[in-house]
Amino acid sequence: MLIDTYGRVATDLRVSLTDRCNLRCTYCMPEEGLQWLAKPDLLTDDEIVRLVRIAVTRLGITEVRFTGGEPLLRPGLVGIVERCAQLEPHPKMSLTTNGIGLKRTASALKAAGLDRVNVSLDTLRPDVFKTLTRRDRHKDVLEGLEAARDAGLTPVKVNTVLMPGLNDDEAPDLLAWAVENAYELRFIEQMPLDAQHGWKRDGMITAGDILQSLRTRFELTEEASGERGSAPAERWLVDGGPHRVGVIASVTRPFCSACDRTRLTADGQVRTCLFATEETDLRGALRAAPEGSTGGSDEAIARIWKQAMWGKKAGSGLDDPSFLQPDRPMSAIGG
Ligand code: 5AD
Ligand code: SF4
Repeated sequence: MLIDTYGRVATDLRVSLTDRCNLRCTYCMPEEGLQWLAKPDLLTDDEIVRLVRIAVTRLGITEVRFTGGEPLLRPGLVGIVERCAQLEPHPKMSLTTNGIGLKRTASALKAAGLDRVNVSLDTLRPDVFKTLTRRDRHKDVLEGLEAARDAGLTPVKVNTVLMPGLNDDEAPDLLAWAVENAYELRFIEQMPLDAQHGWKRDGMITAGDILQSLRTRFELTEEASGERGSAPAERWLVDGGPHRVGVIASVTRPFCSACDRTRLTADGQVRTCLFATEETDLRGALRAAPEGSTGGSDEAIARIWKQAMWGKKAGSGLDDPSFLQPDRPMSAIGG
């Protein structure tokens, strides 16, 4: 079990499959992109499957989420999903993607055993999409979303970040669109995880702002308390239901005390939190003891992972004036 000194148990593993991306969202990356990880530093497909197996069979992980950068850029993605789907006990598996290329792979991913997708989409306006992501790919994302829904990768969740002056007037339109298309919309407060360190607390769109804006057009009723569990999204029924909308108030209402996550970067480092300032290397241990080489190496890796999680801090520290942004941006950590 991955337990920490505050008694939290991590059952949800986020695995970053690449730090690269084909978009350049302004809240994530600079226009020119980043210094990408070198290929030899990335975990191989075999190494990823091995770590997921250790997590599922020895550490109590029940949910695996593949992220990036953009995980669809990883050539071996379908194969990785297929092999992880054969593990016992069988983990739930989802993918957090920007949706580009999903049109082509959605049905293969479903057949491989993927349960669901989360697709990032911040706007319904192609011109705003181009400004926000610096790429003219709005149509690809919409097509990817439809393909995911048609392939049964449901519920399809849509993640939206609102940026002041760009798309902060779109919350009700996005919700109307999501209801119509049977997508579950979740707004995420912008967090200080951009490579350029451009995040400012003043001016960020808060959960409070989002709800106020949605209520100009919809009646929102809070889900009965207790249903949030460790899910970071607080959810509201839209006009009496059954459709719901979520708001992830990572900044103004952090959910650290109920956090059930552990993270693995594309180069094989365990992170206890998005905002952790330390990482624990598993790749070294993996490569020192290749699969099948010595008895007990999986156990040793599990032990290192447990030790790393034991040291998980109480919170993100976002609310502390001494908050320090992690060295690595979100695209390298995994969303
Ligand atoms: N703040 C909030 N959300 C972010 N995402 C990426 N960077 C940030 C940030 N700085 C979102 C993406 C994606 C999800 C994994 O995280 O839009 O939907
Ligand atoms: Fe790519 Fe996601 Fe970062 Fe946008 S937020 S640049 S889609 S990794």
